[in-house]
Amino acid sequence: MRIDVAIAHATERLSAVSESPRLDAEILLGRSIDMPRSYLLAHPEDELDDATRSRFEEVLKRREDGVPMAYITGIREFWSHEFAVSPATLVPRPETEMLVDLALSEIPRDATWQVLDLGTGSGAIAVSIACERPLCEITGVDISEDALAVARENARAHASGNVIFECGSWTAPVRGRTFDLVVSNPPYVRNDDEALAALEHEPQSALAAGDDGLDAIRVIAADCPDVLVAGGLLAIEHGFDQADEVRSLLESRGWTDVRCHNDLAGLPRVTAARRSGK
Ligand SMILES: C[S@@+](CC[C@H](N)C(=O)[O-])C[C@H]1O[C@@H](n2cnc3c(N)ncnc32)[C@H](O)[C@@H]1O
Repeated sequence: MRIDVAIAHATERLSAVSESPRLDAEILLGRSIDMPRSYLLAHPEDELDDATRSRFEEVLKRREDGVPMAYITGIREFWSHEFAVSPATLVPRPETEMLVDLALSEIPRDATWQVLDLGTGSGAIAVSIACERPLCEITGVDISEDALAVARENARAHASGNVIFECGSWTAPVRGRTFDLVVSNPPYVRNDDEALAALEHEPQSALAAGDDGLDAIRVIAADCPDVLVAGGLLAIEHGFDQADEVRSLLESRGWTDVRCHNDLAGLPRVTAARRSGK
C-alpha cells in the first residue's frame, strides 16, 4: 500500500475518535516508518512493507480504542517543551499553562523562591516554572511513585536541576518547610461525571475527587496555610463550573484576596488566594 493511500484510509478510520484524524494518522505512520511527517508528504508514492503495515495497524487500533495520542507516542507538548507521559500520568492540558503563566507573573525574575506544585503528575508545571525561574527551587509532590518516575525523567531531560520531587499525600511530605508560592492542578472531576468514561485511559486517581469533585481542593485549602508564607499565593486549577464553590471554601478557610482567572476559552479555570496573617 502507498503512503498516501494508507494515510487516507487511516484518516477515515480515526475520524470517529479524533478531532484531528489526518494529523494523528500522519504522526502514527511517521513513527511506524521512523521518519518525520515531512518525509510522508514528500514521498506519497512510496510503498509500505509488511512490517511497517503491521506496526501502523497496531498503533491505529490503539488510537481507534480511544487511547490518547500522547500515550501512544509517549510525548506531550506543554509550555513549548516536550514532556514524557505514561499511563501513570495525566496528559497535561493546554489550559493548565495558565497556572504556569500565573506563577511566573508572581515570581520576580531574580527571585530565589521555594515553590510547591501539589499533584505534579508528569512534572509539566514544576519543570516549566523551573526552566523559567532557574534561581527558584520547585518541589513537586505526588501520591503516585510511577508518576514521579516520569516527572524525574522530565526534569532530567530539561536539565531542571532546581526541581525535586517528593512522594506522599498533598502537603504531608513537605511538613515543616515553608514555600513562597503553591500551585496545584488537583483531581476535580465529580465521581459521577459522565466525562470520566471518555477519559478511561487516564489514571482515575488523577481526575476524580469525590461526589462534588472538591475533595482534593478541600484538603489543599485546609492544609496549605501551614506550608505557605504569610501573604503567599495559592493558585488552584478547577472545573469551569466550580469557581463559586472554590471561592467559598477558600474564604471559609480564611484565605484572602480570592480571585478567579478565566482560561483562553473565557471559562473560569484557576482561582488564586493569599494566606492571611503576617
Ligand atoms: C489532574 S492531575 C495533574 C497532573 C499535572 N500536575 C498536570 O497538570 O498535568 C492530578 C495529580 O494529583 C495526583 N494526586 C491525586 N491524589 C493525590 C494526593 N492525595 N496527594 C498528592 N497527589 C495526588 C495524581 O496522582 C495526579 O498526578
